Amino acid sequence: MDFKQQVITALAPVVGQAVDEATINKLIEVPKNSSLGDYAFPTFILAKTLHKAPQQIAVDLVAEIDQTPFEKVVATGPYLNFFLNKANFSQVTLQEVLTQKAHFGDQDLGDGANVPIDMSSPNIAKPISMGHLRSTVIGNSIAKILAKTNYKPVKINHLGDWGTQFGKLIVAYKKWGSEAEVKADPITNLLKYYVRFHQEDVANPELDDEAREWFKRLEDGDEEATKLWAWFRSESLKEFEKIYDMLGVTFDSFNGEAFYNDKMADTVNELVEKQLLKESQGAEIVDLSKYDLNPALIRKSDGATLYMTRDLCAAIYRKRTYHFAKSLYVVGNEQREHFQQLKAIIKEMGYDWADDIIHIPFGLITENGKKLSTRQGRVILLEKVLNDAIDLARQQIEAKNPTLANKDEVAKQVGVGAVIFHDLKNDRLDNFDFNLEEVVRFEGETGPYVQYTNARAQSILRKSGKTVDENASYVLEDDEAWEILKQLNDYPNVIQRALREYEPSVIAKYSLHLAKSFNKYYAHTRILEDDGMMMAKLGLVKAVSLVLENALSLLGVTSPEEM
Ligand code: ARG
Repeated sequence: MDFKQQVITALAPVVGQAVDEATINKLIEVPKNSSLGDYAFPTFILAKTLHKAPQQIAVDLVAEIDQTPFEKVVATGPYLNFFLNKANFSQVTLQEVLTQKAHFGDQDLGDGANVPIDMSSPNIAKPISMGHLRSTVIGNSIAKILAKTNYKPVKINHLGDWGTQFGKLIVAYKKWGSEAEVKADPITNLLKYYVRFHQEDVANPELDDEAREWFKRLEDGDEEATKLWAWFRSESLKEFEKIYDMLGVTFDSFNGEAFYNDKMADTVNELVEKQLLKESQGAEIVDLSKYDLNPALIRKSDGATLYMTRDLCAAIYRKRTYHFAKSLYVVGNEQREHFQQLKAIIKEMGYDWADDIIHIPFGLITENGKKLSTRQGRVILLEKVLNDAIDLARQQIEAKNPTLANKDEVAKQVGVGAVIFHDLKNDRLDNFDFNLEEVVRFEGETGPYVQYTNARAQSILRKSGKTVDENASYVLEDDEAWEILKQLNDYPNVIQRALREYEPSVIAKYSLHLAKSFNKYYAHTRILEDDGMMMAKLGLVKAVSLVLENALSLLGVTSPEEM
């Protein structure tokens, strides 16, 4: 329940002539120090109308206001401080969480509208990079947040399966490759050929001409080129699927760049008809100087289309197919200008939905502060990272809980969850260093810490042998329980904030905070002591567990019951 509304409802009749409810809502603050109550209302704004000092106004209002719903309302200087009725708050909040369970925090903000999310989108014949990992887990979490708020997310993997690099790859494969090698370890070997191409074309620039020619053949539908391309693509996808399986991420569409090949002519024609295409040094561009942007390259002098052309075509296709409310692109910050250009072209084409195109950028994962890049072979192989994380998790489980029954499954949940959580706990635009030991720790600001806290809550519930009654009126009024109850009650707002900012870190930080408060409670309270409050305490434990599991699930992290 929204307890702030209680405060607004109490204030409206006494200040309603001077300020409306929306203004009251905006003015209400949450005091930093809880000794000043749960909400505060500053009276400065009323001084002019009432011709009184704010301090006096506060005193007068306290006398007038209906205090019944509150524990108390007091004037402190120019503020009215509201203290919520703890018994009522506790009862209402716990009942809401316990009855709604996984649906606690559900809200209808989207009215079922479609929202395509362009996410992951790795490049065929190259390893999934840490950047693609970021796009995958951020996109996946945003999809879950959207579903929770009644939007319909459509997860699209815009595979990098087209472009001049396939000309290079075909040349390299034909010169140095073998079918057996590719079959045995597709990505490693395809990457090896590609890297070799870039080493050799320095001395042999004619290799580039050959590559251009092969790409042209591919674009013209040549049989040999198409067959090789399709094979590279399917072998690569098999590898990607392994990682998606480990991460527990699924997609609604794998329409990548190549999907738009037969739709591109229409898009280019439309640009011609709208007189947006200009010649520049033999190539065709859209001039975007009025947006302070570099021109966007649409077609090269040899007629080959580009990354931008395919994105433009895809954006229009998505609008026609999904009639989206918003169209999201979870892509690294280094492509910021690309998406500004994309949006500007769509605007120039006269589409009123241009502003619904939203780039959701994110920062880099670094290693000792250095950027990782594919070209120089400085890649961390994601599959290895995940497997190493699982091993580390297993070691810790082995030490902490050697008799645990399904150790392998739990190690997987914890290891993979740790990598995902670490990625999501930082503001997405921040760069961060990746240090596996740090990521999989059971203490500190980690996923395993939150999972462990939840497992601890589960274990208390098991040990009690009692069943929490979800419809009971559980009342807890001590300070530490109060801290937790307030956080539980805030969960729906937290989800709203995460949605508004497209920022899963809001939820990750919330889960850390809730876990910390719960562990403090656990340290100070004898939960299983039958002091007449035991069932209420267990109700709180259960509610914490439900909300922790829910918050983790919105991040794409699972919650083992025991670990
Ligand atoms: N394949 C691209 C890359 O790895 C990312 C594609 C992002 N999505 C898009 N619609 N441009 O850099």
